[in-house]
Amino acid sequence: MNHFELLNGELACEGVPLTAIAAAVGTPVYVYSTATLRRHYEVFTNAFRKHPELGQPLVAYAVKANSNISVLKTLGDLGAGADTVSEGEIRRALAAGIPGERIVFSGVGKTEAEIAFALTSGVSEINVESEPEMLTVAKVAQGLGVRATIAIRVNPNVAAGGHAKIATGKAEDKFGVSFDEAARLYSNAANNAHLNPVGVACHIGSQITDLEPMRKAFTLMRGLVEKLRAQELKVERLDLGGGLGVPYFHMPDPPTPDDFAAVVAETIGGLGVQLAFEPGRVIAANAGVLLARVLHIHERPENRRFAVLDAAMNDLVRPAMYDAYHDIRPVRLRPGPLLAYDVVGPICETGDTFTRERMLPPLEAGDLVAFMSAGAYGASMSSEYNTRPLVPEVLVNGDQLAVVRPRPSYEDMLAREPVADWLT
Ligand code: LLP
Repeated sequence: MNHFELLNGELACEGVPLTAIAAAVGTPVYVYSTATLRRHYEVFTNAFRKHPELGQPLVAYAVKANSNISVLKTLGDLGAGADTVSEGEIRRALAAGIPGERIVFSGVGKTEAEIAFALTSGVSEINVESEPEMLTVAKVAQGLGVRATIAIRVNPNVAAGGHAKIATGKAEDKFGVSFDEAARLYSNAANNAHLNPVGVACHIGSQITDLEPMRKAFTLMRGLVEKLRAQELKVERLDLGGGLGVPYFHMPDPPTPDDFAAVVAETIGGLGVQLAFEPGRVIAANAGVLLARVLHIHERPENRRFAVLDAAMNDLVRPAMYDAYHDIRPVRLRPGPLLAYDVVGPICETGDTFTRERMLPPLEAGDLVAFMSAGAYGASMSSEYNTRPLVPEVLVNGDQLAVVRPRPSYEDMLAREPVADWLT
């Protein structure tokens, strides 16, 4: 459930009509619902309360999904941790008040500077993804005179649906090490004065709507923990990543956090580990929309009807990059039969097409439309391509709204680029 519903005949976010946001901030603009973010976080954490044998897991929200500091603070204030993949994301999480002990640092290629930053800012665990990276972490820790708390990320070699560009769990993908390699690295780490291995981690992909691959991967992870323990190694933590999908369009029976927790209980129950999860999309996707305005309708009588928007692929890249489907809803419904539209942005490439021949209620120039389920991997993947100002973000809470990332001015954008001396 989300809080984007009709209010007096037009789409609103909680108590704020989207037309009011468009009037105040302009379009395109991302709009996030506090109540939905909170609800999704609570649904996820409550799912595990039903399985007390699992203990209370760390829910380390995947910052990459939506890294706005106010979004992070909304979740952090509820107790969420943060799964981060860069120094920038660690800094955002800390700026949002999420304490280091709830921050995990993942990613296949961390620089020495980033590792040093993580080690000095109290991040609870670095998930290392390869032997060279583990040796780099040990070297940086030695230089700082500390012992780095690490987990080894395993690639369980389980295919988990989703688009090929976001699947991570197959042996040919760049993430993590094999089970055998993980056991070898773990025991090496345990014998290294600068490393403190505390657990193992996996993340098999994103937008997963079939729990079977998860069941398979988690069972294998359990086997690894048992194997390590049989070698007298201490394994206290198990990070099972994120990846739970959301229904971008109608799905009869999408797996819920309750279903997910049941699979975790079945596979991990009784193992006696501190569990961690890294959900991103399932928390943020349906908590946000991208609001855009129709610039004009371009009818090409022989074959096509284009709705040209003021939002483009630089604002929401998912359709161009992953052929992703986003529901598109007019903010005010016009009466009349559905018509086929190609909904496109103004950027000069055909990839700047959000959808082709989508049946939508009639649209006219000036109408507002909302791209639903855009709260995850929307603004966080936006760019200034075509020198379009970075799309602003608004957070709604009941009938309050705050601009949590303003639209930059053209002056600000151009001022960031000093002209080379020899050209002045
Ligand atoms: N943990 C790790 C190590 C990850 O790589 C990811 C996502 C997550 C957690 C969070 O996954 P989630 O729960 O959100 O599925 N840009 C793509 C999605 C890329 C996901 C990358 N990794 C998209 O727009 O669909």
